[in-house]
Amino acid sequence: MRVTVSRKAHFNAAHRLYRPDWDTAQNQAIFGKCSNPHFHGHNYELIVSITGAIDPETGYVMDMKVLKDLIKDEVEDAFDHKNLNEQVPEFKSLNPTAENIVVVIYNKLRPHIAATNDLEVVLYETPRNFVKYNGQ
Ligand code: NI
Repeated sequence: MRVTVSRKAHFNAAHRLYRPDWDTAQNQAIFGKCSNPHFHGHNYELIVSITGAIDPETGYVMDMKVLKDLIKDEVEDAFDHKNLNEQVPEFKSLNPTAENIVVVIYNKLRPHIAATNDLEVVLYETPRNFVKYNGQ
């Protein structure tokens, strides 16, 4: 029997989507408003899910306080109110699309989750656009 527990979190961050090896017209054509050289912000919403067996002693899959603190340390403190392109090392040469952000978040959290548990991260860039990554 495996149960999934989830924790919601959020952060606000600015980004710009562009490739330095493309000219302005091509960046504009592919990334549109998200290529604005002056950056723009999103209210990112995050759902982190852990799937595993219920510990018979505690009744927990994972202590939610531990998960909450982990998300704060690894994601919120690193990304909240930051310019992702300029202030977050992982995006120095990686386009901060929602797809790339969710993979970076997964990779930051994964080492701190018990190896026997599965991790899935859902990232909302807007209320209607979201991406999901589970390490596969
Ligand atoms: Ni954007």
